[in-house]
Amino acid sequence: MDQDALKKQAAEAALQYVEGGVIGVGTGSTVNHFIDFLATVKGRIDGAVSSSEASTARLKQHGIAVLDLNAVGDLALYVDGADESNRDLSLIKGGGGALTREKIVAAASERFVCIADESKLVDVLGAFPLPVEVIPMARSLVARRLVRLGGTPVWREGFVTDNGNLILDVQGLKIMEPMALEQQINNLPGVVTCGLFAMRGADVLILGSEAGARTLTRG
Ligand code: 5RP
Repeated sequence: MDQDALKKQAAEAALQYVEGGVIGVGTGSTVNHFIDFLATVKGRIDGAVSSSEASTARLKQHGIAVLDLNAVGDLALYVDGADESNRDLSLIKGGGGALTREKIVAAASERFVCIADESKLVDVLGAFPLPVEVIPMARSLVARRLVRLGGTPVWREGFVTDNGNLILDVQGLKIMEPMALEQQINNLPGVVTCGLFAMRGADVLILGSEAGARTLTRG
């Protein structure tokens, strides 16, 4: 099976967590499969809160109502992909640049189900460059501070987030303490948020694999 087929397998397995109400929906190619599966049970849900303009467009194409988080309060379920997960279900996200809205919807949700192909499971986070969303005027300042933290930030040139900000992708990190690093980076002036999801990691990780979808749970 190719990587996309494994992503699709994980996305389909996440449908079992959809029990109705309003669903939080992430961003990326794995989530695109999930949205397509969600469309097959759309009569069961009241709509979705989306984490990006791209997911909003796909949800609407399927006739799924997209609701404002401010209007719906907390959500029972959030489904999203990841660029890396460790065995504690701390994640690196933001390869698609939607990390800030993803973090907001994840924070508003009781259960975060992460879907990925099995290549995303790692022992130590950091081989995938850590995305950091920054206010444009702080780009150089934040980059210098990230160097002090041991990383090599690379500006994702030509890319603007849905929030009008920039992304620095930080290479060369070996993240032994994800929660501490998440807090440290988020505290730098000019940082909107970083792509570490450790303080609010996933509760369930569904991995597409040759042997079928397998599920890991936090704790
Ligand atoms: C977007 C994300 C995605 O969840 C992450 O990049 C994984 O993407 P894909 O499902 O395409 O592998 O965090 O900001």
